[in-house]
Amino acid sequence: MSLVSPVATELLKKQFVASVQPDLHSTSDALTLATDEAYWNTIRKHYPITRQLIYMNNGTMGPSPREVTERVTKRIEYVDSTGDYGGDYEGLRKAIALVVGAASGDEIAYTHNVSEAISIVASGVEMKAGDEVILSDQEHAGNAIPWLARAKRDGIVVKFVTLAPDDATVLNRINELITARTRVIAVPHVTCTTGQVLPIKEISKLAHEKNIWVMADGAHPPGMMQLNVKDLGVDAYTSCGHKWLCGPKGIGFLYITDAFMQHVLPTWSGAEADKYWGYDGKLDFLPTASRYDFATQNFALFDGLHAAIDWMSAIGFDKIESRIQHLTSYMRTQLHEALGDRFHYLTPATSITGLTTIKLEGRDCQDFANKLMSKHKVRTRVVHESKLDANRLSLHIYSSMEDVDKFIEAAKDLLGA
Ligand SMILES: Cc1ncc(COP(=O)(O)O)c(C=O)c1O
Repeated sequence: MSLVSPVATELLKKQFVASVQPDLHSTSDALTLATDEAYWNTIRKHYPITRQLIYMNNGTMGPSPREVTERVTKRIEYVDSTGDYGGDYEGLRKAIALVVGAASGDEIAYTHNVSEAISIVASGVEMKAGDEVILSDQEHAGNAIPWLARAKRDGIVVKFVTLAPDDATVLNRINELITARTRVIAVPHVTCTTGQVLPIKEISKLAHEKNIWVMADGAHPPGMMQLNVKDLGVDAYTSCGHKWLCGPKGIGFLYITDAFMQHVLPTWSGAEADKYWGYDGKLDFLPTASRYDFATQNFALFDGLHAAIDWMSAIGFDKIESRIQHLTSYMRTQLHEALGDRFHYLTPATSITGLTTIKLEGRDCQDFANKLMSKHKVRTRVVHESKLDANRLSLHIYSSMEDVDKFIEAAKDLLGA
C-alpha cells in the first residue's frame, strides 16, 4: 500500500522517527532483568492506566504506553492538517514479520482485529460441502463464529476437539477426529480460557503428513512470548496489536504462507489488493499477502502499531517474556500459599505465560470479579467460555510485584483466607 506523495513521505520521515526513550535499554540478561523491580517500575511510568487501578485484564485489552498514543495522535493531526493521506506501510509489514518470525512482509496482511484475520481464512479457504475443519472446545467466539458462518453458507462440517492439559492427549484426540474430509485444523496457540499453550508445532507436523492446512489463532503470543511461525510450521497465524503488543485498538494482522495463499481466495476486496484489474473483465490479485488488505485505512493505527513494536523491541522481546514469566510464577506460588484449597488452577502448570485461570471452590466467579473491582480496584476477567465459570488473571510488563501482592491481599479478604 503506497498512496502517498514524495513530499509527504519526507515530512513523515521527520515526524515519525521512533521516539524510543533511552531509559528502556538495559544491558542485563533476560533472567537477571526479570527480577529488577527498579527497571520495571521505570517501564510502568510510561503506562497511564496503572495509576488508577490494578489492571489484570491484558488478555482482553493491552493498554498502550504513551509513546504509542502520541504517535497515533501525531498522525491524525498530520493527516487532518495537510490533507496528505496514506503512507508507505511496507516497513510495518516487515516489523510484524520480525515479531512473528515470518520470512518477509510479503507474508503479512493487515486486518482490523484477530477475528477478521481468521475470517479471511475461514471464508476464503477452498472447502466444499462436507469438508471438515477441526477447532478446539475452548475457542474464543472470534475463532468459532467465522467457521460456523462458513458451515451455514457452504455446508462445511465443524468438529471440536476436547482439550486436555497434556500435549500427547491433545494430539491423540485431534488425530482421532481427522478423516479423509479434514481440510483445516484451526486452533488457538494460547487459549483465551486458561492460557494453555497448545502444541502447535506437533499439530502442524501431524496435519501436514495428511495434507491438512493449519491456522493458529495467535491472539495472545505476540508481545507475550517469543514466537517463530516458521518453527511452528503453521500455514496461517492470526493476531492483533491491541493485546500483548500494547498497540492501538483496531489493527490486527494475518501471517499466511505463499503456498496457502494460493488456496485462500480473498472474500472481500477493493483498491490496492490487485496487480491488475480492467474492463476486459480480468483481475489478478497481488502475489503477496497484501492482496487481503485494501482500500481506505486508518493509517494512524499503523503508525501506532509500529510505535508499539519499536517500544517492545527497545526493551527486548526475550526480556518481556522473562519478566511476564517471573511475575506469573510469583503470583501462582503466592496465591497457592495464601488461599490453599479455596481454588485450583485450570491453567496447566507447564503453560507459564501472562494468563492464569483459577476456579474457585463454591464461590461465584462473577461475584468475585465484581467485588475485586468495586472493593479493591482490581480488574480481572471472568471466563464463561466452555462453561468454565472461572477467573482469568493477566500480568504484563506494566504489572508489578506490588500489584500481585495487593491482588493476593484482596483475594484473601474476599475469600475469607
Ligand atoms: C484466543 C482469542 N481469539 C480471538 C480473539 C478475538 O480477538 P479480536 O477481538 O481482536 O477479534 C480473542 C480476544 O480476546 C482471543 O482471546
